Amino acid sequence: MTKYESLVENTKKSICNTYGRYPVDVTKAKGSRLWDLEGREYIDLLSGISVVNLGHCREDIADVMAEQARKLVHVSNLFYQEEQVECAEKLLATCDADKVFFSNSGAEANEAAIKLARKYMRTVKNRDAYEIITLEGSFHGRTLATLTATGQTGPIKDGFSPLPEGFSSVPVGDIEAMSAAVSDKTAAIMVEMVQGEGGIKPLAHDYVQAIVALVKEKDILLIVDEVQSGLCRTGKWWAHQHYAITPDIFTSAKALANGLPMGAMLATDEVAKGFTPGSHATTFGGSALVSKVSSKVLDIMTEEKLADRAAEMGDFFIGEALKLKDKYPGKIVSVRGLGLMLGIELGFDGNEVFSKLRDKGFILNLTKGIILRLLPALTIERADLVSFLNTLDEILAEMD
Ligand SMILES: Cc1ncc(COP(=O)(O)O)c(C=O)c1O
Repeated sequence: MTKYESLVENTKKSICNTYGRYPVDVTKAKGSRLWDLEGREYIDLLSGISVVNLGHCREDIADVMAEQARKLVHVSNLFYQEEQVECAEKLLATCDADKVFFSNSGAEANEAAIKLARKYMRTVKNRDAYEIITLEGSFHGRTLATLTATGQTGPIKDGFSPLPEGFSSVPVGDIEAMSAAVSDKTAAIMVEMVQGEGGIKPLAHDYVQAIVALVKEKDILLIVDEVQSGLCRTGKWWAHQHYAITPDIFTSAKALANGLPMGAMLATDEVAKGFTPGSHATTFGGSALVSKVSSKVLDIMTEEKLADRAAEMGDFFIGEALKLKDKYPGKIVSVRGLGLMLGIELGFDGNEVFSKLRDKGFILNLTKGIILRLLPALTIERADLVSFLNTLDEILAEMD
């Protein structure tokens, strides 16, 4: 039995069977490279699903992590900690929000957003409004409330009923359907600016403006889920900045601490009034260690102008991928993206292309069975993107 086979067997024995894993083990990573137990090298175009936006195992982040690990790791939110404030101030400097609540994951950040919207409506607005309207095809997490908010049906939800009340989803792009779904019980509309798990689908500009107008007219809140799209990924700090809007609440996680678990819910001062001591809490959220690392991440994103870099590299990639679409009409039906949040939709089942790419050393994701999804590190070399596109070209040329 190889080391890989034995790892697979032991995983099956000891870990809950919730993941369809790729047939790859990873033992080491650096920048945009991964290595398996046999020493085989891969180009990582997925970054741990948009988490390791600065590349793997950077020395400067490792130094901050090690230094903080010797100073203060965790004391709980019963205490004031300067690392937390430093991180919050840096985060708030990237956007129009005024206050942060730190969590440990994207789902928890979204839970906080949903809870804040309901609490704000009841305690500040004196309205018994609690419903959250989301978009079909969206993904907001796996806790019961965020799973219910997720605009998908099928295995993701099957077997978990009863799901919490107060959620509905409407088709993307249909402002009339959204308007019709709003009632006096509606607290908020919650959307991703670019649907990630849904297949890299940016919302249309006019549609977002119409949502903002609707939210204003009905005096309800706009929550934007930036768990995947945030932190320079799309070519701006936050995807909502492409639409020049200010959400009442938005959420972040994934890349916040470049691999350490961290989430954040950000809100305007007005909406943040909904939370008072005891309203909401977490044991781990915003510990000194993750906050210090996150501060460093935010510094690096600023110093290395990674939003601009993501925009430039994303434009380059989309331009080149569109040439492949022209070369293989029918095989590539759509190239989509914003910055380095990229999708290539194939006109046929993508599993064969996906495994051939992996066999040739490229790690990415296949969404919905037909969309090659790439979320490379924002520091990725142009040569790595070129190498991927050339390999995809070769694979598509060989296929009937
Ligand atoms: C848009 C969006 N929201 C929420 C989540 C859930 O985040 P987490 O897995 O950290 O709970 C994800 C995860 O992929 C996501 O892409």
